[in-house]
Amino acid sequence: MTDYFKEISYLMIETNSSCNLACPSCNRERLKELGMREDKYLTLDEFKKNISLFHECPLEIVKLEGISEPMLHPEFHFMAEELKRAFPKAFVIVATNCQYNLKRTSFLKTIPFTDMFYLSIDGTEEIFEKTRAGSSWKKLLQFLKDLEENVSEQDRSSKMHINFTATLKNYLELPKIYKMAEDYGLAGVRINLAQDWNHDRPNPNSFPQEMIEYLKAYKKDIKGSSPWKYDQCFWPNNGAVIDVFGNLRQCIINTSQEPLMNINDKSLSTYYNESEHYKITRKNLRENQPGEDCINCDYFHLEPVLKEIFENEPSPNQPRKFKRFETD
Ligand SMILES: C[S@@+](CC[C@H](N)C(=O)[O-])C[C@H]1O[C@@H](n2cnc3c(N)ncnc32)[C@H](O)[C@@H]1O
Repeated sequence: MTDYFKEISYLMIETNSSCNLACPSCNRERLKELGMREDKYLTLDEFKKNISLFHECPLEIVKLEGISEPMLHPEFHFMAEELKRAFPKAFVIVATNCQYNLKRTSFLKTIPFTDMFYLSIDGTEEIFEKTRAGSSWKKLLQFLKDLEENVSEQDRSSKMHINFTATLKNYLELPKIYKMAEDYGLAGVRINLAQDWNHDRPNPNSFPQEMIEYLKAYKKDIKGSSPWKYDQCFWPNNGAVIDVFGNLRQCIINTSQEPLMNINDKSLSTYYNESEHYKITRKNLRENQPGEDCINCDYFHLEPVLKEIFENEPSPNQPRKFKRFETD
């Protein structure tokens, strides 16, 4: 049998479903309407059980987050600690919205067990508040002040990155975002073109020529891969996404997919290796013939935009390599 499961190197796993914001770029509100985001917080034991399923997998990257705000979980730091203990070689990433008092959450206690934080900041002042609906700029400034006072220069300059989701409404904020990173001694800025995480509809964002021209100056920090074709997608071959309910989905940016299976009901490794869903998905992608779960994928649909920004040169981020089995 071809053991894809034992090749899983990238895992996204969630600890809670709650969030304190309703960002227009995120599809959490839609998922809520679809009944996919009921309130749930994992217990530490549940979390340990979920990650133990991957004990034979060579995890290289674990994103300890999902469509939620991790710092709303009061025991988040225990989960991060457990994750690092179980997978000491994995590079652990946590994304957070900075809309809380960091001294009263798990944030500071999570730092030793985390390799990289995405501090999600999509603008300044009113633009910040609009792009992160429910947020307050004042709270963000307090967060950054507390960060400066309570987190070592070493940790700030190596682990803390501003994560900026670029849309037509905020891209001109980038110079101020870079200044903020410099002022607070952060590691840098990561820029993502806004994706659409629903599998059943195309991305409503547009990226006109003037925006593309402007973003060229920020090439080195723009994430995403170009060139990219479906046959380069590592997700169904080497990746997995497990939400707080134990549901498996095939990839990080298809969040509206009906769960493929639940890890509390049946064997994850058997499903990953032997299900028709994975067999068909791998075959379709290998032949560059995406099925309905992948047809609206923004790795594909944003690639031409990235190509223009990178002026036909290969992007700094290249698609993750994965093992291809002969027997596929
Ligand atoms: C969904 S949030 C969840 C974690 C946490 N609540 C936060 O705000 O960082 C994870 C990351 O996705 C980014 N993001 C939100 N909408 C996006 C979109 N449409 N395309 C790409 N990234 C997006 C956010 O800026 C954030 O850095």
